[in-house]
Amino acid sequence: MQGRRILLIVGGGIAAFKALDLIRRLRDHGATVTPVLTRAAEAFVTPLSVSALAASKVYRDLFDLTDEAEMGHIELSRAADLVVVAPATANLMGKMAQGLADDLATTLLIATDKPVLIAPAMNVRMWEHPATVRNLATLRGDGIGVIGPVEGAMACGEYGYGRFAEVPDIVAAIAAGLSDGPLRGRHVLVTSGPTHEPIDPVRYIANRSSGAQGTAIAAALRDLGARVTFVSGPADVAPPGGVDVVAVTTARQMADAVVTALPADAAVMAAAVADWHVVNATDSKMKKTAGGLPELRFAENPDILADLSRRADRPRLVVGFAAETDDVIAHATAKRARKGCDWIVANDVSPATGIMGGAENAVTVIDANGAEAWPRMSKADTARRLARRIADALADG
Ligand code: CTP
Repeated sequence: MQGRRILLIVGGGIAAFKALDLIRRLRDHGATVTPVLTRAAEAFVTPLSVSALAASKVYRDLFDLTDEAEMGHIELSRAADLVVVAPATANLMGKMAQGLADDLATTLLIATDKPVLIAPAMNVRMWEHPATVRNLATLRGDGIGVIGPVEGAMACGEYGYGRFAEVPDIVAAIAAGLSDGPLRGRHVLVTSGPTHEPIDPVRYIANRSSGAQGTAIAAALRDLGARVTFVSGPADVAPPGGVDVVAVTTARQMADAVVTALPADAAVMAAAVADWHVVNATDSKMKKTAGGLPELRFAENPDILADLSRRADRPRLVVGFAAETDDVIAHATAKRARKGCDWIVANDVSPATGIMGGAENAVTVIDANGAEAWPRMSKADTARRLARRIADALADG
């Protein structure tokens, strides 16, 4: 981040005070921070404290003649390497999605030609409101990076999604946004973890996927500079910092989230998606009855990988996984053809290998040219090698 310039727009929410810590850490990394406060932000943090921490003038008004004489708002919007909105309030997100420009912050956001990253923070009801959901989808579609929010207790006393992401994770997302890596400017979609298919409100069908390999892949892609959308089922391992996490539970939710995340340059489908869901799942807990056992009826889940590969707006490179227990290469080669994806990363998940849920992996990458066996190595090294191969493939195209 040394010497890189960040235009930081601080929105008016209780999390605005955390922007002070963010400024400090960005400067510790050697970045230059030019702060902009919305009028509402000034109710939460003072321009003086922001200015002192940033060691910079604070910009506040659109029609400030002194500011316009020193640096016009168009120039200000472009004099940065990255524009960051932290915290991004529901109001700011709504204005951005609509393209409004009624104050300095929103005018800069519509005038900029630089990548934009937002770190939303708001009450859980506001985050889940259909208008915010719509605005978020619009912003993602416009290519805006999103970091957080995360789940947790809120200043208002409620609990849920809406908390400002942890500052180190925002710093990691900013570092990825500023990276000169070979995936800079690329959007890569990663699915990861298992899915849970409900039987009733307390029971579900799942599998042993820990999400470790998908998480490592998302981190490796981020480290090469990609903007990563990470669609994850309920995994054991925490999602990586600095990526846009979309948390889902069922295969059908994962399928919707994947389509919403498009367009993307590449997709890596590392999730262990359940093949079936229970059609007669109940809204209240199933009880033992004297007259026999419950009968679960199943229906097939959408094949997310196959559906994505066949879309007209599919990512240029679609990578699937094949978890097999026997005849790995033959099954995986057939799977590649059946699913219509470009590469299949095949692995042997028989219990004796210790791969599922373990720290290592031994994969064979199958593409149009044949099969390439990689040695057994850590999941992090497998991820880095795969990310590098993806970067090379996108560069060639
Ligand atoms: N996959 C998917 N949607 C599904 C099932 C699988 O996107 N409903 C993806 C996985 O993320 C993985 C690839 O398809 O990238 C292969 O998953 P796997 O479970 O090995 O294959 P299946 O489709 O379940 O095939 P089979 O049951 O024949 O092994």
